Amino acid sequence: MLPSRSGLVCVLQFASSAHCAAAGLAPTPVLLPRHDSSYSSCKVVPGTPRWPSPQEWARFNESLAGRLLQPSPPGAVCHPGQATYDPAKCPTVRAAWSTYEFHQADPISMDWNQWANDSCLPQEGAPCSGQGYPVFVVNATEARHVQLGAQFAKKHNIRLVVKSSGHDFVGRSSAPNSLSIWTHHLKDIKTHDSFHPSRCKVTIEGSAVTVGAGTQMWDLYSALDPLNQTVVGGGGKTVSVGGYVTGAGHGLLSSWYGLAADQVLEMEVVTPNGDIVIANECQNQDLFWAMRGGGGSTFGVATSITMKTFPTPKLEHLVVGIATPNISETRAIFDMVAYMVSNLPSMGDQGLSGYSFFFPAYPNPFDNSNTTVGGFLMSAVLKDSSPEVMRQLWAPVLAHVSTTWPGLFQTYYVPRSYPSFLAWYSENFDSSQAGLDVYMGSRLLDRAALTGNLTRNADAFARFADGLGGTAYLVSGKGVRNARPRGGGNAVLPAWRKAYVHATSGLEIPPLDPAAALAARKKVKERVAALKAIAPDMGAYMNEANFEEPNFQHEFWGSNYKRLLRIKRTVDPDDVLWCQPCVGNERWQQVGDRLCRVGGGKQ
Ligand SMILES: Cc1cc2nc3c(=O)[nH]c(=O)nc-3n(C[C@H](O)[C@H](O)[C@H](O)COP(=O)(O)OP(=O)(O)OC[C@H]3O[C@@H](n4cnc5c(N)ncnc54)[C@H](O)[C@@H]3O)c2cc1C
Ligand SMILES: *[C@@H]1O[C@H](CO)[C@@H](O)[C@H](O)[C@H]1NC(C)=O
Ligand SMILES: *[C@@H]1O[C@H](CO)[C@@H](O)[C@H](O)[C@H]1NC(C)=O
Ligand SMILES: *[C@@H]1O[C@H](CO)[C@@H](O)[C@H](O)[C@H]1NC(C)=O
Ligand SMILES: *[C@@H]1O[C@H](CO)[C@@H](O)[C@H](O)[C@H]1NC(C)=O
Ligand SMILES: *[C@@H]1O[C@H](CO)[C@@H](O)[C@H](O)[C@H]1NC(C)=O
Ligand SMILES: *[C@@H]1O[C@H](CO)[C@@H](O)[C@H](O)[C@H]1NC(C)=O
Ligand SMILES: *[C@@H]1O[C@H](CO)[C@@H](O)[C@H](O)[C@H]1NC(C)=O
Repeated sequence: MLPSRSGLVCVLQFASSAHCAAAGLAPTPVLLPRHDSSYSSCKVVPGTPRWPSPQEWARFNESLAGRLLQPSPPGAVCHPGQATYDPAKCPTVRAAWSTYEFHQADPISMDWNQWANDSCLPQEGAPCSGQGYPVFVVNATEARHVQLGAQFAKKHNIRLVVKSSGHDFVGRSSAPNSLSIWTHHLKDIKTHDSFHPSRCKVTIEGSAVTVGAGTQMWDLYSALDPLNQTVVGGGGKTVSVGGYVTGAGHGLLSSWYGLAADQVLEMEVVTPNGDIVIANECQNQDLFWAMRGGGGSTFGVATSITMKTFPTPKLEHLVVGIATPNISETRAIFDMVAYMVSNLPSMGDQGLSGYSFFFPAYPNPFDNSNTTVGGFLMSAVLKDSSPEVMRQLWAPVLAHVSTTWPGLFQTYYVPRSYPSFLAWYSENFDSSQAGLDVYMGSRLLDRAALTGNLTRNADAFARFADGLGGTAYLVSGKGVRNARPRGGGNAVLPAWRKAYVHATSGLEIPPLDPAAALAARKKVKERVAALKAIAPDMGAYMNEANFEEPNFQHEFWGSNYKRLLRIKRTVDPDDVLWCQPCVGNERWQQVGDRLCRVGGGKQ
C-alpha cells in the first residue's frame, strides 16, 4: 500500500514489495514415484485411472453451459513448442507481467511467480510447463456454476482451488493438478438503504451493498462514490472482496470503523458439499462466523457478500517524511523510527489512520537529488478534519525529533485535502508491482509492544527491516477494538482487537533460483522473529503473512482455532477445499505435485 504521488512511488513500491509472498512448494516436498500404491490415499491427478475421462469432462462442461476452460499457462506465448506460442504476443505479456491487471484478468495467473513454482515465466529460455497451474477452470458467473464445480471435485476426489484476482500472498489461489473455480466474473453490485437479512426478524438500519464475490476495490469504490458512500476496503485496485473479506480485510477506514469482516451482514456461500446457502445471524450462523476471518477457500466459496457502507469522508492527508542522507547513522535512524512508530497508538486514538514505511537506505523519495536517505515516511490521514488539526497532531512529534537528533534529519511535510474517499484513493492506491518472486512476513503490534517494549528494543525494527525496509500500517486501533460484528462476533484473530499496527516486510528474489528462495525464507523467519520477540502475544494477519509461519493455527486465529476446526470438519468432512496455511489442513500434505492423506488411510 504505497502512496503514488510526490515522488513517493518508489518508496511505496518498495515498501509494498514488502507486501509479499512465498514459494508454492511445501517446505520440503516429499517425492514419491507416480504409481506407488500409497497414491490410493491422494487426490487424483491427470494420467491416472481415476482422473475423469474426456467424456466426463465434456459432460461437466455441458452442465456448465460451456464455461469450462483448460487454459495454457499465460507465459506459454513466449515458449516455442507450447500450443499457444506466439512471438508477437510474448513482448506484450512480458511487459504486462508486472501489473496486477494482467494476472487478475487471466483465469490461472497469479501475482507472485513462486506460487506456480516459476514454471512458465514469460522469458525465452526459461522452462515452461503447466505444472504449477490448475488443469481445468470453471469460469463462474453464478452460484450454480460454483456448485457444479464443488460437486464434481467432491465426486471425483479432485483437488479444488478458488481463484479470484490471484493476489494471494500465501499461495492459496492455485495448485497443481487441480480444478479451479474462478470467481472473478461474479461482479454484480446492488445498494440498499437498509438491509433485511434473509429469514431474520430484524432490519439492519443504515446503507449496505451486496456485491458478487469477484468484485474488486476500484469498481466497488467507484460504484458507491456517486451515492456519497464508501466501504472498508483495501489499498490495491484489483484486490477482490472474496479473499479480502474472508481473511479479515484492513484499509484506511478500518482504523475508524473496524475490519472489512466486521461490516458483513450476509453472505451467499456454496459449501464444499455443493449446497448453495445463505449465511447470516439467523441461519448457518457457524458458517457466517467462520467466513468472516477464518480464511478463503476453506469453509466454502462466497458467491455474494453484503456489507455495510459509510458516508464518504472528507480526508485530510499528509505526506510526512523524516530522513537523513547519512545512512551510516543506522542507530539513530532506527531509534527515530522506533520513536515515530511508538507514537502511532496515541495518534491513532486521536483519529489518525494511514500507512508508514521505514527504510535504512533508499533512493531519496522527496526530490530528484539522486541521493540515498534512511528514515521514516508516512501517508497519514484524518477524516472530516482540517490541516490545522493535522499540524497540531504532528507538531510535538516533529519537535521531539529535531531536539533529540539536532541537524540529522530532514523533514518533509506535504499536506493535502481530498473531498471524498475516492478522490484520495485515486491518487493514493497501492501502486506497487506484481509478477515477482516475493516472500512476505508480518506481525500485528499492540500498544504495549509499540510503546514499552519497542522503545526498549529500538533495534527490533532494524532487524525486521533487515537492511531493506518495512511497513507499519496504522490500520487498526479504536475502530477495530470497538467493532460490533453482526451475530455477536466473527472469526477474526482476537489480537486484531488490540492491535494498532500491522507491520510487514517482504523480500524479492530472482526467479528460478532455489538457493535464493531458501535463503529468503530463512530471512523472513528471522525478520518476523524480531517483532515476535517484542509482541509475543499478538499474531499475524493471515492474508499478508509468512506462508510458513510456525504454528500458523495459533498465530492466525488464536483462541478461535478450535471452533474454526470444528466448523471445517462439519462443512467439509472430505476436505474438498484444502490449502496451506489454512484451517483444518492437518490431515493432508503436499507430496511433490500431489495432495495426499497424512499417513495414508481412507481415500
Ligand atoms: C496490491 C495489493 C494490495 C493489497 N492491499 C491490501 C489491503 O489494503 N488490505 C488488506 O487487508 N489486504 C490487502 N492485500 C492482501 C489481500 O487481502 C490478499 O492478497 C487477498 O488474499 C486477496 O484476495 P483476492 O480475492 O483478491 O485474491 P485471490 O488470490 O484470488 O484469493 C485469495 C484467497 O481467497 C480465496 N478466495 C477468493 N475468493 C473467494 C471466495 N469468493 N470465497 C472463498 N474464498 C475465496 C482464494 O482461494 C485464496 O485462498 C493486498 C494485496 C495486494 C496484492
Ligand atoms: C466447453 O464448451 C465450450 C462450448 O462448447 C467450448 O468452447 C470449450 O472449449 C469447452 N471447454 C473444454 C475445456 O473443452
Ligand atoms: C469468462 O466469462 C466471462 C463472463 O461471461 C467472459 O467475459 C470471459 O470472456 C470468460 N473468460 C474466458 C477466458 O473464457
Ligand atoms: C453527494 O454529495 C454532493 C455534495 O455534497 C451532493 O451535491 C449530492 O446531492 C450528493 N449525492 C447524493 C446521491 O446524495
Ligand atoms: C555520518 O555518520 C557517521 C556515523 O555516525 C559519522 O561517523 C560521519 O561523520 C557522518 N558523516 C557526515 C557527513 O556527517
Ligand atoms: C546518481 O548517482 C550515481 C552514484 O553516485 C551515479 O552513478 C549516477 O550517474 C547518478 N545519476 C544521475 C541521474 O545523476
Ligand atoms: C515484551 O517483550 C518481552 C520479551 O522480549 C515479552 O516477554 C513481553 O511479553 C513483551 N511485552 C508485551 C506487552 O508484549
Ligand atoms: C518445482 O520446480 C522444480 C524445478 O523444476 C522441481 O524440481 C520441483 O519438483 C517442482 N516442485 C513441485 C512441487 O512441483
